Amino acid sequence: MNKPLGVTVIRHIVDSQRLHPEATGDLSGLLNELVVAGKTISAEVNMAGLADILGMSGKTNIQGEKVQKLDEFANNTIKKRMARCGYLCVMTSEEEDDVIPVADGYEGKYTLAFDPLDGSTNIDVNVNIGTIFSVHRRRTPGGQGSKEDMLQRGRDQVAAGYILYGSSTMLVFTTGDGVQGFTLDPSVGEFYLSHPDIRTPERSKYLSINEGNRNYWPENVRGFVDLLKEKDQEKGRPYSCRYIGSLVADFHRNLISGGIFIYPRDSKNPKKPYGKLRLLYEAAPLAMLIEQAGGRAITDDGINILDIEPTDLHQRVPLIIGSKLDVDEAEGFLR
Ligand code: AHG
Ligand code: MN
Ligand code: MN
Repeated sequence: MNKPLGVTVIRHIVDSQRLHPEATGDLSGLLNELVVAGKTISAEVNMAGLADILGMSGKTNIQGEKVQKLDEFANNTIKKRMARCGYLCVMTSEEEDDVIPVADGYEGKYTLAFDPLDGSTNIDVNVNIGTIFSVHRRRTPGGQGSKEDMLQRGRDQVAAGYILYGSSTMLVFTTGDGVQGFTLDPSVGEFYLSHPDIRTPERSKYLSINEGNRNYWPENVRGFVDLLKEKDQEKGRPYSCRYIGSLVADFHRNLISGGIFIYPRDSKNPKKPYGKLRLLYEAAPLAMLIEQAGGRAITDDGINILDIEPTDLHQRVPLIIGSKLDVDEAEGFLR
């Protein structure tokens, strides 16, 4: 039986390029290289239990977190492939202290910030993990890029997305014309369009927050979370609590079904007063995606994530992200 003609990532990009005759195809080429990196990581993630790749690498990263072998594999896979893709002038990774140069002679017009493997604590227990990426246009005129090219507002991203390694491997991304979801057919090695023009429900179904940190949250955050737990027939509250511990997996479930994810600032670690999540390669790309899908993303003092001017590659921000009506309510309550 002939398989239905699936819309591949390239086919989708070429089709959408017809709407932008000015497009040079560089962004498409960049995304396609990222897809190849994602397929490579997916194959490794799916074999991790069998290959000797689970467990710790014995190193720690700039975040002071123990680097798992798969983190390292994912980081190296993306770095090596993207350094020679010809579309980038500089990169930043959660796993690297400073910016990552591209190969000499391969400098291009975009920048890439990425979390090679989000949800590392879930690697060894077979729970969904993912890769998150964010693309900007370079600011410096030419040659190798610099930190100046990396430190740009989320509002100025040209593309953002993630690859989710779960019961199936999915690619979800936006280039500013809505959010598209693709599912990998491992028998063919192709991503096919499975979730065109994703729109997130304007009211949540799920509340995602690590309640274990409750005693460290600011008072007003505790108050808002308690409000979400009060019975409110009209708003469908109290919501079900779902927290996977992989931001990308919690985000994806909420994107599709409706939800509000909260990682507020906490007093747990004086060195990390703004919570755990990083702006450049976690909060900002997901904020572009959620806005493109009809939702919102703010900090726990009501600032739009996309409007924050970054000052450091690895700066952390409190994050409230998800269904529009609930994030609107959070903004009013917390301001
Ligand atoms: P990473 O594995 O890239 O460091 O990210 C982990 C993050 C995020 O994925 C998740 O939402 C959060 O850590 C969970 O943190 P807690 O365990 O403190 O809830
Ligand atoms: Mn992460
Ligand atoms: Mn990570």
